[in-house]
Amino acid sequence: MRNDVVDLLQSHRSVRRYTEDPIPQDILDEILTCAQWAPSSHHVQAYSIIVVDDQKKKKVLSEIAGSQRYVAESPIFLVFCADFYRLKLTTEMWNTPFEVNEIENVLVTAVDTALAAENALIAARSYGLEGVMIGGIRNSPEEVKDLLELPEYTLPIMGMCLGYPAQKPWQKPRTPKQAVVHYNKYRPKEEIVASLKDYEKISSDYYTRRTGGVRTEGWTKQMAIYLSKPRRRHIKDFIIKQGFNLE
Ligand SMILES: Cc1cc2nc3c(=O)[nH]c(=O)nc-3n(C[C@H](O)[C@H](O)[C@H](O)COP(=O)(O)O)c2cc1C
Repeated sequence: MRNDVVDLLQSHRSVRRYTEDPIPQDILDEILTCAQWAPSSHHVQAYSIIVVDDQKKKKVLSEIAGSQRYVAESPIFLVFCADFYRLKLTTEMWNTPFEVNEIENVLVTAVDTALAAENALIAARSYGLEGVMIGGIRNSPEEVKDLLELPEYTLPIMGMCLGYPAQKPWQKPRTPKQAVVHYNKYRPKEEIVASLKDYEKISSDYYTRRTGGVRTEGWTKQMAIYLSKPRRRHIKDFIIKQGFNLE
């Protein structure tokens, strides 16, 4: 049974080209309020959102993200940061110990941040805006920290380009439910592998059609290649440097 929210969610695609139309401040305010209405683990609300509309800063962020031009081209770029700095201030106000060194806290703050980010994207889309999340800012979190003057106990988790769409890309097919959804217990490996084989065909057809045959490999092959080497090994050191002395 369909409704407007379901239609909005199921029409998701990342959009990387925007018109030059600015995002009205009242709409941006509603989007940011929606981000804040995301649920939060123990209500710690352990995230901050930096609104970047300064063209020079967007350009620097675009380079940090690996020359992703749409970061500079989007009228607004949001940087979603995991944030325990504000919580440290609460402990200073009450002169209590500040215990954040378990990896659990990094999970808590990253999850809170992601939930806020997705709320923002959905709210933006409800106003006819589109966007794309940008993990590329984690290529150099130290540079992002310096550029945005982020304090200790904050971690830039993802950016988000937002703007009025100037393209309508095809939707990327998702993994079949048979490999993702489990009832009461995890499915046997054979069922998952069978679904993955189906998905390889479906996704290969998609990429072949979308790229006119330039890219033919499907999702399983792409992921196998993606996972064949380490990525962003510097993140652990950055997390520790920001104050989380992970136990
Ligand atoms: C946390 C996160 C980080 C992402 N980082 C990037 C990025 O740096 N550059 C980019 O072009 N897309 C990025 N994406 C978008 C994904 O590539 C995209 O969501 C995925 O390919 C599925 O496509 P779709 O969103 O169009 O359905 C990111 C998505 C997420 C959730």
